[in-house]
Amino acid sequence: MNEMMLETWDSESTLCSLEYGHERGNEELLDLILQKVYDEENLTLSKENLMLIPGSTGGIDTIARLFGRSGPILLESPSYVDAIHIFQDHDLQLESIRMDPEGLCLEPLKKILDRHQREGRKSSLLYTIPCFQNPTGITTSENRRREILKLLQPNNVIIVEDDVYRDLHFEDRLPPSYFHLAGGKGVFRIGSFSKTLAPGLRLGWLIGEASLILRCMDCGVFQMGGGANPLSAQWTASLWQTGKLEGHIGNIKKLYRQRRDCALAAMEQYMPREVQWNRPKGGFFLWVSLPEHFDASVIQDAAEQQGVLVANGKDFFIEPHQMNHHLRIAYSFVEEREMVEGIRVLAEVISKQQ
Ligand SMILES: Cc1ncc(COP(=O)(O)O)c(C=O)c1O
Repeated sequence: MNEMMLETWDSESTLCSLEYGHERGNEELLDLILQKVYDEENLTLSKENLMLIPGSTGGIDTIARLFGRSGPILLESPSYVDAIHIFQDHDLQLESIRMDPEGLCLEPLKKILDRHQREGRKSSLLYTIPCFQNPTGITTSENRRREILKLLQPNNVIIVEDDVYRDLHFEDRLPPSYFHLAGGKGVFRIGSFSKTLAPGLRLGWLIGEASLILRCMDCGVFQMGGGANPLSAQWTASLWQTGKLEGHIGNIKKLYRQRRDCALAAMEQYMPREVQWNRPKGGFFLWVSLPEHFDASVIQDAAEQQGVLVANGKDFFIEPHQMNHHLRIAYSFVEEREMVEGIRVLAEVISKQQ
């Protein structure tokens, strides 16, 4: 990565990107993203449908601030802890909906929409992570996406599709994005370079209807701030143009797939029988479900004392007291030998707590 960084540094374009940029973001990078969207989903978009954002979290924050106040925000349960944090920072009302292996469940979604109708209000947004969800690793099926759209579109609920793991798929073809299925109407689609290149770039992109993107560009942060991270964006565009980004993504996909396989094999070998986990087809995470009488906080602390770090599942729920028997393992992060040993230690800790 460091070598790629130095090789791609071109002093003239670097100097330009030290200025404030256009609020939509770096032109070259926008063109490359438009081409990527076309290649992947056969979607011909124009620049009006696109802007750069300072990472996915920057996009979520902007959308929450500009579109989240008109009613409760619907969330998958569990969901990405920092998105929950952002919504709470804006003091927005949240309603969570349980998931099954195909994605967010339809029955509770219908119930919430009906209740809102009876109460004379409506939800503002649905925040969803449709591919290799953080934390569960679930990918919402195409069928479920279509059903969710059918329920939300008549209610004018905007879908915020946080698709930061989409490029990290190991196996099957992925379902079409919500943006694609909705013909571009009423959906914000978020991408990021954090998972494929480097989180320190603080760079991602936002796709949506031209009027929605215009509203985002027109806010104070982008108007005054001069678009998302011109320097990172210039470097990323230069790297992409050399053709090295594709190769890099291919390499990390191979690496993460090996680590996923290694983690799954170690789970099979060491975990007690009553512990369950998913088999993610991409992304970063194993979601581990302990029997309900377990306290994940106790397991997490005991594992940490032996140098093994796992996330406590309760942090991903907006009603944490009910859900204290899950752990999240990020297999992307550690080398194989270390991971096998970490899972062995974790399994031992769990066995001792039974
Ligand atoms: C679902 C999801 N969205 C967004 C992010 C953060 O992305 P960014 O670094 O682009 O803000 C993460 C990182 O963990 C994530 O899991």
